[in-house]
Amino acid sequence: MLRTHTCGELTIADLNKEVTLTGWVQKSRDLGGMTFIDMRDRYGITQLTFNSDDNAEMRAQARELGREFVIKVSGRVIERSNKNQKMPTGEIEIKVSKLELLNAAKLPPFLIEDETDGGDDLRMKYRYLDLRRNPVRSNLVLRHKMAQEVRRYLDGLDFIEVETPVLIKSTPEGARDFVVPSRMNPGEFYALPQSPQTFKQLLMVSGFDRYFQIVKCFRDEDLRADRQPEFTQIDCEMAFIEQEDILNVFEGLIRTLFKNIKGIDLAEVPRMQYADAMRLYGSDKPDTRFDMKFVELNDIVKGKDFPVFDNAELVVGINAKGCAEYTRKQIDELTDFIKRPQIGATGLIYLRHGADGSLKSSVDKFYSEDELKKWSAAFNSEPGDLILIMAGQTDKVRKQLNELRLEMGNRLGLRNKDTFAPLWVLDFPLLEWDEESGRYHAMHHPFTSPKPEDIAMLDTNPGQVRANAYDMVVNGTEIGGGSIRIHDRELQSLMFKHLGFSVEEAQKQFGFLLDAFEYGAPPHGGIAFGFDRLVSIFAGLDSIRDVIAFPKNNSGRDVMIDSPSTIADEQLKELRINTTI
Ligand code: AMO
Repeated sequence: MLRTHTCGELTIADLNKEVTLTGWVQKSRDLGGMTFIDMRDRYGITQLTFNSDDNAEMRAQARELGREFVIKVSGRVIERSNKNQKMPTGEIEIKVSKLELLNAAKLPPFLIEDETDGGDDLRMKYRYLDLRRNPVRSNLVLRHKMAQEVRRYLDGLDFIEVETPVLIKSTPEGARDFVVPSRMNPGEFYALPQSPQTFKQLLMVSGFDRYFQIVKCFRDEDLRADRQPEFTQIDCEMAFIEQEDILNVFEGLIRTLFKNIKGIDLAEVPRMQYADAMRLYGSDKPDTRFDMKFVELNDIVKGKDFPVFDNAELVVGINAKGCAEYTRKQIDELTDFIKRPQIGATGLIYLRHGADGSLKSSVDKFYSEDELKKWSAAFNSEPGDLILIMAGQTDKVRKQLNELRLEMGNRLGLRNKDTFAPLWVLDFPLLEWDEESGRYHAMHHPFTSPKPEDIAMLDTNPGQVRANAYDMVVNGTEIGGGSIRIHDRELQSLMFKHLGFSVEEAQKQFGFLLDAFEYGAPPHGGIAFGFDRLVSIFAGLDSIRDVIAFPKNNSGRDVMIDSPSTIADEQLKELRINTTI
């Protein structure tokens, strides 16, 4: 080792020790007779001092050191006259006797400090410099610790980590595939896995019984704060289990992570039916850190000649507690918020429950005070509350009101990043109708088992069939999802048929799995957690980019290595790819 200690470990207990440290120059200050340098490495910052009794050449060299120069110093640990109690090394400094420049550095394009002056683009281009900053590095340290905890927990329960291939063929998880041309098989392509779904099921057929993998997955989809084209899953599968077993084992995983990483004892994770989540929160991933549940009003508001309500499939609202004093301007802001094209609502109706007990609505023309009392009762409103109501087609209006509920949660400070509300959402529909293609799609994926009691409805009422599928949601983010699988060739073939595959197509794409089911496939099921999302929630961050060492930007580009990029004509020719298209 070039050093005897790191920059984060020397304290008053080490006084008078002769030490050698290495690191980067964070900053230097020249105060006439004294030169101070803050030297940084991954572990912390240690102050170096040079003064007028020192060798003049060394002192001159110290004065010349710029930010981010890489140095090695030897010297004695002495007590600081001006102590900094906020730093672990703040009571000592190193009186340097030997200074060696290991490498000079250009002036970095932004400040390498906790608070930096660098914008997003610049920091992404120089990500290796951004990673020197504490807040960024600490996210990756957290990620590492969480990965270790996951491995420890699952290993303790006899899960075996198995690597599955990256050059595979398409697995339908609902996004587009990234494809890789095969030079040796001209005109043919591999696909990168959207998840190792089929492989983990095959491992169950192989008798592995309990599998996991912390694994990269690839999906060519529109990017958002919680989506990257390549991301990491904690992917798991178990054989000879029922849904209840999966819920228990993986609730245990989440509980262990909260306990060992954040010191939080989670209560039992509540469970909610998908249908209830949609009815009460308008979302399959409700943020249950706050209440503000939906109240449906069809029964009490219809038939009073107010066309907006009479013509709507659903009239539904929320009680924004304590907001009766909202000004006209604030309510207009909310109306503008829900009318934005991303949300697309047509209007907002409100009822103020005044501090004096009065009830005043924006549709008083149509509703008498007695009618408004019924509204108030439905929402359990109290003096000081503001009821916000929307009307329209059921699915749409629920989605729109969900956005308004989350916005109100933000405005009322109810979405605190240090509060954690995990939730299981259960019994998702098996199929979802896709307008564009005019057919049903698997809501989770085609290998998900329908609830046995609903199988008969596959022919008569496919949209109503429920799946043995579950998601884990934390604070309104879906952090994991899984299902009990089909392990029977007949039922799997039936599913493919309902998803619009011909027998030949199903055999071509998934014949290997259908065939495997004929060689003794055990009942099995599993789950995959979005590891980046989980880490970002633990770190209290909005974007998963901040917990990925080298992420892509919102256009799917890595601006540091400048990728994707064109490739040489030679390579294209070799791959027989014609670029004139
Ligand atoms: P699913 O598609 O629900 O299930 O994915 C599992 C979890 O992965 C995370 N996730 C993402 N994270 C970041 N960027 C993305 N683009 C992205 N897409 C998904 C989410 C999600 O809950 N094979 C099944 C699992 C199973 O059935 O066992 C699967 O992949 O947190």
